[in-house]
Amino acid sequence: MKVSVRVPATVANIGPGFDCLGMALPIYNTITIEETVLPGTGIEINVLANEDVTDELSLEHIPMDENSIIYKAVELLYNSIGQTPSELKITIHSEIPIAKGLGSSASVIVGGLIAANELLGKPADEAALLSIATEVEGHPDNITPAIIGGLTLSSAEEDGSIVSRNLPWPEEWVLTVCVPEYELATEISRSVLPKEVPLTDAVYNAQRMAMFVQAIYTKDEELMKLALRDKLHQPYRMKLVPGFDKISENLKHEESVLGVVLSGAGPSILVVSLKTNLDKVKTIIKETWDELSINAQMYTLPIDKTGAVVIPE
Ligand code: HSE
Repeated sequence: MKVSVRVPATVANIGPGFDCLGMALPIYNTITIEETVLPGTGIEINVLANEDVTDELSLEHIPMDENSIIYKAVELLYNSIGQTPSELKITIHSEIPIAKGLGSSASVIVGGLIAANELLGKPADEAALLSIATEVEGHPDNITPAIIGGLTLSSAEEDGSIVSRNLPWPEEWVLTVCVPEYELATEISRSVLPKEVPLTDAVYNAQRMAMFVQAIYTKDEELMKLALRDKLHQPYRMKLVPGFDKISENLKHEESVLGVVLSGAGPSILVVSLKTNLDKVKTIIKETWDELSINAQMYTLPIDKTGAVVIPE
């Protein structure tokens, strides 16, 4: 038996929502798991990359053996029903740029888990999948939108359960994702974060989170401009993400720009804007990368509202 699952890319944090907010984007990895018939063949993991969006160097971030995150996720699921995985061929068709802050790890964890769950006759419900996937990934903000799609808030509770909800995203607000050529591994980007932050910074983010939620429900552009800021992670990561401060600075006076934030742990950057003047905004972004001599791809995308789907054979 063979099952394929298509999983979207994700943008996590979205300004004030460190480890909490995320949204799904229509760039997809497809993960296929096949039970092989030959006993003793063990686990085989293959990655087929789209050469437009990745390269051999970035593929090194995906271990191909039993240390891989995808294997760990699948193993946890099997263990949860008292079994051990064996004789599986896992294939990842990779379209999501790797080590760019677009949730490529979350996508393979989610795809592997959902495919394995189908093979096993669906022993795990959505809550269990969210919980196992978050255990492997470490935080739920990429995992949740990868599974359920759309804009999501999520929280990993002390008992390992995940509280998650979809939030509405105003259609009028456009997402432009900038993906620079350089890579930044999440472990490195997390290693620069402090263990504790000043109370004033925590209060600042609590205020922005409340503003964010109110702004999306009322489509309040001015409130969103205040909301899309952060003091918990972006200031510390700035030095690892050349271009982020300059793009923020160069877009500061554009009336149609609601915010410039790091996508997840970076290095990709998300620009939230209105549709008006989009061409001008994109020109400013492009000119900024050119000035800095950094090659970057830029995608203006809608939000993916579906999340992970099992592809019928
Ligand atoms: N919230 C996470 C971070 C997302 O910023 O480190 C990356 O996995």
